[in-house]
Amino acid sequence: MKVEDAKKIKLGEYPTPLQEMPHLAAAHGNKIKMWIKRDDATGPAFGGNKTRKLEYVMYDAIEKGCTAMLTYGGPQTNHGRTTVAAAIHCGMKPILILGGKKPEYLSGNLTLDAMMGTDIIFTDDYAKASKEVIARYEAQGDKVYDLPVGGSTMVGAAGYIMAVKEIMDQCEAMDIHPKYLVATVGSLGTFGGLNAGVHYFKAPFKVIGVPVSPGEKKERAVEFVNQLSDYYELGFKITEEDICIMEGPEDAPYAGEAYNKPDPLTRAAMFELAREEGIISDPTYTGKTMRGFLDMVDKGIIDGDAIFLHTGGAMAVWTKEHLDDMQGELFANCTISEI
Ligand SMILES: Cc1ncc(COP(=O)(O)O)c(C=O)c1O
Repeated sequence: MKVEDAKKIKLGEYPTPLQEMPHLAAAHGNKIKMWIKRDDATGPAFGGNKTRKLEYVMYDAIEKGCTAMLTYGGPQTNHGRTTVAAAIHCGMKPILILGGKKPEYLSGNLTLDAMMGTDIIFTDDYAKASKEVIARYEAQGDKVYDLPVGGSTMVGAAGYIMAVKEIMDQCEAMDIHPKYLVATVGSLGTFGGLNAGVHYFKAPFKVIGVPVSPGEKKERAVEFVNQLSDYYELGFKITEEDICIMEGPEDAPYAGEAYNKPDPLTRAAMFELAREEGIISDPTYTGKTMRGFLDMVDKGIIDGDAIFLHTGGAMAVWTKEHLDDMQGELFANCTISEI
C-alpha cells in the first residue's frame, strides 16, 4: 500500500504552525535561521507527536471492530495520555498499563489520565499485566486493540512519513530553505518516520536525531526505516551512514544520565527557549533535544538554517519530581516580589 493512501481518521489540526525563532537565533549569534515546527499544538488533550501516529492507529482499531484501546508506558507517558484522548474520541474504553508501583499522588500526565476516566494498571511485569488485562476485558465482551509503547508501529509511523511532505509544502509556501530538521529519538516512530519520509519525498533537508536515552544505537533506526520502506513500498534501503544521531559530549551527553532523569543542562535549554521565545518544552524529550540543537549550533555542527521539531510533552513540567528539582532554578530565573 502506498503511504499516501494509508487510511486515517482526523484527530489533530494540520498543518501545524512553522514559526521562526528570531530571538533564540540572535541569542546564538544569528549564525543560522531557526524555525520550530509546532507539533506540540496538534491536540487532542494537548496533543504532541503521538497524534499523527494515532490517526492511522485509530482507523485500524475501528476497522478491526475494537471497543477498548490498551497501551503502555512509563507513569508519565505522553503517548498514553494522547492515546486515551484519541480512544475516548472514537468511543473506545481507554486502558493504560504503566511501569512501577501505584502512586500516592497524581501529577503531570497522570492527572489528565485520571480526569479522562482511564483504567490505569501499574505493574513491574508488562507481559503478565497485558495478558491479564486483555483477558479481563475480553471476558466482558470487549475487543482490545493492543498498541505497543510509543505507538511506533508500521501503521503509526505513516504519520511522520507524511509530516515530511507537510513540512516541504510549508517551506515552499514560506520560501525558506532549511538544511536540517532536528528531532527527538525515542521509540523511533517519529525519527524513523521522518527519515523514511525524507528519503521517499527526496526532501532537501537532513534529519538530525537527539536521543532521550544515552547510548542510542543506529542499527535500531536503520532496521525500522527499512521495515517502513518494505511495508509502504517506498523503494529505498538505507544504511547506518544515512542516519544521523548526535549523542553530544561524552562526559555530558544530550540525553543526560538516563531516560527521564532530571538534568540541569536540559533545564537550562528549556528555560532559554521559554525566555527567548515563550515556548514551553519538557525535561524528558524536547528539552534534551533543544539542548543538543543549541549546542550543535554553537559548535558549528549545524551549519545551516534549521527546523526544530517540537513534539510536545510539556505536561512533564508539572510532575512532582521535576517541579521539586526546578524550584531553585525557577526562582533564580525571574524576579518575584511583593508590593
Ligand atoms: C514529547 C515527546 N517527544 C518525543 C518523543 C519520542 O517520540 P518517538 O517515541 O516517536 O521516538 C516522545 C515519546 O514518547 C514524546 O512524548
